[in-house]
Amino acid sequence: MARRSIIAANWKMNGDLTLVNTMVNALSEVDFQNNVNVVICPSSPYLSALVAKTKEQKLGPTFAVGAQNVSEHENGAYTGEISTKMLQELSVEFVIIGHSERRSYFKESSTQIAHKVSVALNAGLTPILCIGESELERATEQTETVLASQLQPVIDEVGIEKFVDVVIAYEPVWAIGTGKTASSEMAQETHQFIRQFIAQADENVADKVPLLYGGSVNASNCEELFAQADIDGGLIGGASLKAEQFKVICLAAKGK
Ligand code: 13P
Repeated sequence: MARRSIIAANWKMNGDLTLVNTMVNALSEVDFQNNVNVVICPSSPYLSALVAKTKEQKLGPTFAVGAQNVSEHENGAYTGEISTKMLQELSVEFVIIGHSERRSYFKESSTQIAHKVSVALNAGLTPILCIGESELERATEQTETVLASQLQPVIDEVGIEKFVDVVIAYEPVWAIGTGKTASSEMAQETHQFIRQFIAQADENVADKVPLLYGGSVNASNCEELFAQADIDGGLIGGASLKAEQFKVICLAAKGK
């Protein structure tokens, strides 16, 4: 089964209009392989500018724009929230859901995250569902239990067959922004567990679902990580704010 590679940039609450322009200009110089998708997820005020710039530079179907969050509500009195319809109207195609920063700082529960995945899928957006264990959970050998507890509510809510349209990002919390990357062996072992967990529900879906690794990915470690059998790309934080580094990371993605 051929799986595409996805390299997604999570700018978090960083970046500005200058970065929008610099990044798109830098990426427009690169000839990417057909089976690679590059998704840039800026803060929501920059979504329109990014979409406009990718059109202006004719970046083509390899590239897509993603949001970092979406509301589980359709519309209404939810000050500060952004709906799936608003994202669709801006030609946004992907949305990061359940990032560990949303789970911990904004107290998003697995049930709420499952609702968000559901509304995103119903709106034709591709969710990048983030899961991952804390340092203590890894140290106490709870990684698999934690990952299962983050995946199961989403499977229960949307149904396993819909996971063909979901991207899963495994981001160990202890590796995010710390410079402590999971070793490629550890990352592969955990990705394999995630694929097997999905396979218990549906083998065909498990073969197709792209699994991304996130957590201190950079231009030096990306090649080895992406070469692992069950790692189909990355969700990149800090290194996605530097156009030249990000280009190197995108070029290391080859598809499986
Ligand atoms: P860093 O690449 O900065 O560790 O961030 C990873 C991340 O959280 C991407 O969503």
